[in-house]
Amino acid sequence: MPYHIRRLDISDYDEMVRVWAEAGLPFKPRGRESRESIARELAFPGARFLGLFENDRMVGVVIANWDGRRGWINRLAIDPDRRGLGLAGKLIRECESFFEQQGAQVMTALIDELNTPSMATFEKEGYECVSQIRMFRKRRSAES
Ligand SMILES: CC(C)(COP(=O)(O)OP(=O)(O)OC[C@H]1O[C@@H](n2cnc3c(N)ncnc32)[C@H](O)[C@@H]1OP(=O)(O)O)[C@@H](O)C(=O)NCCC(=O)NCCS
Repeated sequence: MPYHIRRLDISDYDEMVRVWAEAGLPFKPRGRESRESIARELAFPGARFLGLFENDRMVGVVIANWDGRRGWINRLAIDPDRRGLGLAGKLIRECESFFEQQGAQVMTALIDELNTPSMATFEKEGYECVSQIRMFRKRRSAES
């Protein structure tokens, strides 16, 4: 298969934003997804931004975040024309190998309860739904 995964850096910013936008993920260009914010996140030692490429074209992206206690899988997205090929599974497993190198015992993802494709994808990769937990958050601003 002409697919390969590699670690991303800030020179990949425009492509990762394109993949997120085409996948329909919320995008805050003046907040957490600004070039400056992404550059800061990329520099964090526990973060791995991974891109999945078909030849030279990015068709998938994910952020693996190790917080010292758990591994978090964030902003997983696959190009709409490349869905159902097992590509998200490949990215999830790549995140897991990064977490395992850090000594992680638990890996997690926050998924909207209406996002059936994402829930099905994680279930297929062996994740169980912990339905009794609710996420509480505090935003600094509407752009956060
Ligand atoms: C969720 C997403 C990343 C899945 O990508 P994908 O590459 O199509 O997923 P995979 O091919 O690895 O699918 C793995 C399994 O998940 C399940 N699955 C995936 N999409 C599904 C769908 N639309 N309906 C039902 N099951 C689905 C299937 O069991 C599939 O395995 P199978 O094809 O062997 O039956 C993709 O749909 C996407 O980018 N969605 C928009 C962005 C998003 O919501 N990201 C998640 C944020 S938490």
